[in-house]
Amino acid sequence: MEENLETLGLPVLDAVNLRMGDSSGPVAESLAEAFETLVELQEQGMIRHLGLSNVLPEQVAEARAIAPIVAVQNMYNLAFRSDDALIDALARDGIAYVPFFPLGGFTPLQSEALLAVATRRDSTPTAVALAWLLQRSPNILLISGTSSAEHLRENVAGAALVLSAEDLAELDQIGG
Ligand SMILES: NC(=O)c1ccc[n+]([C@@H]2O[C@H](COP(=O)([O-])OP(=O)(O)OC[C@H]3O[C@@H](n4cnc5c(N)ncnc54)[C@H](OP(=O)(O)O)[C@@H]3O)[C@@H](O)[C@H]2O)c1
Repeated sequence: MEENLETLGLPVLDAVNLRMGDSSGPVAESLAEAFETLVELQEQGMIRHLGLSNVLPEQVAEARAIAPIVAVQNMYNLAFRSDDALIDALARDGIAYVPFFPLGGFTPLQSEALLAVATRRDSTPTAVALAWLLQRSPNILLISGTSSAEHLRENVAGAALVLSAEDLAELDQIGG
């Protein structure tokens, strides 16, 4: 941790996520020992806020019984909605939810419904997918990945797109 702070030239890290599980997703195991280590670093003043990543709802509860968290970063997008109930529960408690792979990951989401809504709204599938996430819940914060300035502009435009009830109903069928 000291090395991280030195590399970044910072006295304290604003937020640090404990990343659990593996590349296939969360694993049902205790996170207590690792989380307690981060809590100690927080108590020593090196971390302001703690978060969790790639975790199950039970692990979120386990961590919150030890110390407060400000965010959960898990895989979630229009087509992968395992965390629907978790997102709503976190929203009620004022905890942020940061979807990773918000566009589906390495191969962006493709679906007829997404294309239909994008065409009707004179937008693009990625902008619509991001707009849907922003409208899904007020606690959703977005970090979408791109290596292209053009894609970045297109994705940022999604933030201004307000989807109608008809759009949302059509898009909801993708994850259903
Ligand atoms: N905590 C974790 O465990 C975890 C795991 C995975 C990812 N993450 C984080 O989550 C964030 C997002 O993940 P991600 O970038 O892998 O997934 P993503 O945002 O779902 O998708 C990124 C992919 O979509 C493409 N894309 C982006 N905008 C596009 C557009 N307008 N049109 C066409 N293709 C477009 C990108 O290609 P181009 O480069 O060509 O635009 C890239 O291949 C990152 O900050 C990442 O570090 C966290």
